[in-house]
Amino acid sequence: MKSWKTLVLVSTMVLGMGLVAAGCSSNTSGSADKAEYVVGTDAAYAPFEWMENDKIVGYDVDVLNAVAEEAGIKLKWENTGWDGIFIALQNGERDIIASAVSITEERKKTFAFTDPYFEATQMLVFKDGENFKTLKDLEGKKIGVQNATTGDTAVSELFGQDNTNIKRFKTTPLALLELKNGGVDCVVADNGVVLEYVKKNGAEGLKTVIDETFEKEQYGFALKKEDTELLKKLNDGLAAIKDSGKLEDIQKQYGF
Ligand code: ARG
Repeated sequence: MKSWKTLVLVSTMVLGMGLVAAGCSSNTSGSADKAEYVVGTDAAYAPFEWMENDKIVGYDVDVLNAVAEEAGIKLKWENTGWDGIFIALQNGERDIIASAVSITEERKKTFAFTDPYFEATQMLVFKDGENFKTLKDLEGKKIGVQNATTGDTAVSELFGQDNTNIKRFKTTPLALLELKNGGVDCVVADNGVVLEYVKKNGAEGLKTVIDETFEKEQYGFALKKEDTELLKKLNDGLAAIKDSGKLEDIQKQYGF
């Protein structure tokens, strides 16, 4: 009787330890073996991500979906406002951010990034009557940016974070709308998005300029730092679609 009880006790303990161990190991591997990974994207950023009939579509979507297929993982896309996008990653509401995110030293302090999948640069867009050549020419002008983007950083570093001429918007389309309405003299944003806007809204009346002092930016998918296994899977998948020519195909599809 005694030994039977001991056996139950011991096996319960072993089972318990097993569960704890299982819990721990899934913790240390982050969310590498989730049935579905939640991807956050600010889908107001064509051609990288936008809403089409309630569906999130775009270059980032095609690239990450192709990567996920290689990696054998499932994704669930969620439209997520840029203002809260990194917080949502940090607090676990999102597993991956695929939102034309430029890899920066500042962001790397908090998040992990995959290898780059697209090269971008900041671009000025303004009305035809103006003749800006560089960012410095915007001194004293009203400048529109999407809040907390690399465009915002570039402008804030030159003119000061608290400069009242800098108008920060929740989305890039809102900044561009303000340019159209005359509320700002220039918008500074990623080249791909600006060029798409100009193409869609009539090139006439608008000018675009790249200040050659702008550093090149690389888009990467952002993850939590502890999700090292997921990071490896995504990087392997990305390498595979680079090798197979799939990434290039997608780029061609978007005219990049
Ligand atoms: N590349 C810029 C950055 O990382 C802007 C990205 C904005 N993306 C978006 N989907 N709104 O700051």
